Amino acid sequence: MRAHIKDLIAKRESDLPKTEFEEIMRIAHEDKSVISLGPGEPDFDTPANIRNAAKRALDKGMTHYTPVKGLRDLREEIAKKLRKQNGIGCDPDTEIIITNGSSEALFIASMVLIEPGDKVVVPNPGYVNYIPLTDLMEGKPVPMRLSHEDNFDIDIDSLKKKIDDKTHVMILNYPSNPTGRVIKRKRLEEVADLVMEHNLMVFSDEAYEAFTYGKNKHISLASLNGMHGRVATFHTFSKTYSMAGFRIGYCVAPEDVLKAMSRVRLYSSISSPAFCQMAAIEALQGQQKEVERMKREYERRGKMLHRRLTGMGDWFKCEEPEGAFYMFPNIEAFGMSSTKVAHEMLKKAKVLTVPGTEFGEYGEGYVRMSYATSYEKIQEAMDRIEIWLKGLK
Ligand SMILES: Cc1ncc(COP(=O)(O)O)c(C=O)c1O
Repeated sequence: MRAHIKDLIAKRESDLPKTEFEEIMRIAHEDKSVISLGPGEPDFDTPANIRNAAKRALDKGMTHYTPVKGLRDLREEIAKKLRKQNGIGCDPDTEIIITNGSSEALFIASMVLIEPGDKVVVPNPGYVNYIPLTDLMEGKPVPMRLSHEDNFDIDIDSLKKKIDDKTHVMILNYPSNPTGRVIKRKRLEEVADLVMEHNLMVFSDEAYEAFTYGKNKHISLASLNGMHGRVATFHTFSKTYSMAGFRIGYCVAPEDVLKAMSRVRLYSSISSPAFCQMAAIEALQGQQKEVERMKREYERRGKMLHRRLTGMGDWFKCEEPEGAFYMFPNIEAFGMSSTKVAHEMLKKAKVLTVPGTEFGEYGEGYVRMSYATSYEKIQEAMDRIEIWLKGLK
């Protein structure tokens, strides 16, 4: 007999990994003097043309369900974008699904592709969702260690050793949250060879595709030879167009996978809000200069953050950003765990960062700093850290 409500909660929830994140965010929320370098979402307003398209759609009565895969017009626009920007050719009727953020697409793809007991290769350090997502499907997350010495790139030889006949899915994320690194073409080609050799399915999470800096370019794995039938690619409007609250993302995947995802989706959220999908059409069809502006501003902030951190002596070790809007400095010089460093920085310098271990055990020795916050606030955060460090010497 399960007498307490608590005992009624399924084990799959209680087994989820514990996180410090909620507690850190609570402190930051309550203490208004804290500067947060925590957020994983753009600080820019959604461009006006996109907001206006949502308002017009509401006024036209677009407040009903849409087809499970999303509005045909939006899928068509997405297919054009995929062809032009990602080099991925696809059929908008059978290979695209529009979801509530890419989070939902990742969730339902996991539902249909991960069997209990399956091994899932996940980047470590990597985005916080991948391990719990695999756990929820009763799969076994297998860490793909990304080391600072390798510029947090994939080590193909050690990856090979992780793959056996229980491995069906591998998750990639580039530009990466939390490391801010991109994967170069040559490495992607090596990954593609492995995928073919072992008949893997890849989840290619490209949430930050629009934000690469300097000579770094985003290349979609699915655009490489032979990869079309082996990759589910996840994109989102949340980051590129600063539309996180609209909850619109999409997945392009082989027809059979997409069909299965649509069936599961019918029993969860059914469809994404129609007026948000109309806003997404405007995002793709309308001016793109705001995306350019946001990208330039992230780059400016990222460079400054790097300059300031590396200008503080040996405390922080990091390189110039390649993509996304995160810096992932090594903080081993503090001689404390990453959780302790993040807590001390929060308490003493009033600057919020996320401990590297939130992104997997190989994130120990690092903290994540987001530069999706204003240039001035980042400068002020760096001033505060400098003052705190003077007191530590
Ligand atoms: C790597 C990565 N993937 C996916 C997402 C999910 O974004 P959304 O559900 O808003 O599309 C995020 C959000 O922070 C992310 O960092």
